[in-house]
Amino acid sequence: MGGGSAPDAAAPTRIIFLGPPGAGKGTQAGRLAAERELVRISTGDMLRQAIAAGTALGRKAAPLMERGQLVPDELLVAMIRERIARQDCANGYILDGFPRTLPQARSLETMAGADGFTVFDIEVPRDVLLRRLSGRRWCPRCQATYHVETSPPTRPGLCDWCSTALVQREDDKEAVVKRRLAEYDERTRPLIEHYRARSTFHRVDGNRPVEAVLLDLQERLGAAS
Ligand code: AP5
Repeated sequence: MGGGSAPDAAAPTRIIFLGPPGAGKGTQAGRLAAERELVRISTGDMLRQAIAAGTALGRKAAPLMERGQLVPDELLVAMIRERIARQDCANGYILDGFPRTLPQARSLETMAGADGFTVFDIEVPRDVLLRRLSGRRWCPRCQATYHVETSPPTRPGLCDWCSTALVQREDDKEAVVKRRLAEYDERTRPLIEHYRARSTFHRVDGNRPVEAVLLDLQERLGAAS
């Protein structure tokens, strides 16, 4: 565990998930949010919704996401500033995919204070990440995530929740995945040292079954609160 101030038991639970593409951030953030009654804020999902809705933000983000590049910091910071100010975040929230650069981390500190965040860095070997991303399938309607081998839908190719046909994310194609991993190494990995020094920081082995990772997260959160 790193330095910084431990979260106060009475304070809202605020969690940041770090980790490379495919580490299981979305899977774990979704499960933890449901179990702890927290809001999950996924910047990837918000951007994909903006693209589907054809908003100005979506039009700016789409070509960058298709190439596996990060979307400019100022757009993400504005999006998060607006989102965490909403009433449903008052009891706490889980950030899945933000911050992803040092300027984003510093902006979050300005918006929400530097203390009281629990940071989970989920680590998974690269060959496992590649298998997870190539087998991932996604519901474009309700954004549920599956894997063709490890968590297939009940009916092949159809979302369990809304029966929509599942698709492969464009950015899960091999060439784009390479770029996303390079962006992670260059721009997001430095956040590990940033948070290790400032926050309640946990490095988590993500190369285990989903339930085992979730139990580990719950135990560490329990110990932290
Ligand atoms: P985003 O959607 O956030 O993608 P990502 O961070 O690359 O993360 P992924 O969704 O690929 O992986 P994950 O770790 O959530 O894994 P998951 O749980 O799905 O961002 C997409 C793009 O948006 C970025 O490239 C960028 O362009 C833009 N963007 C977003 N945020 C931004 C920001 N802050 N700044 C700038 N740009 C931003 O799991 C993956 C697969 O593995 C699934 O199939 C799942 O079923 C399976 N799986 C999960 N856990 C396990 C397990 N324990 N065992 C076996 N299989 C597992």
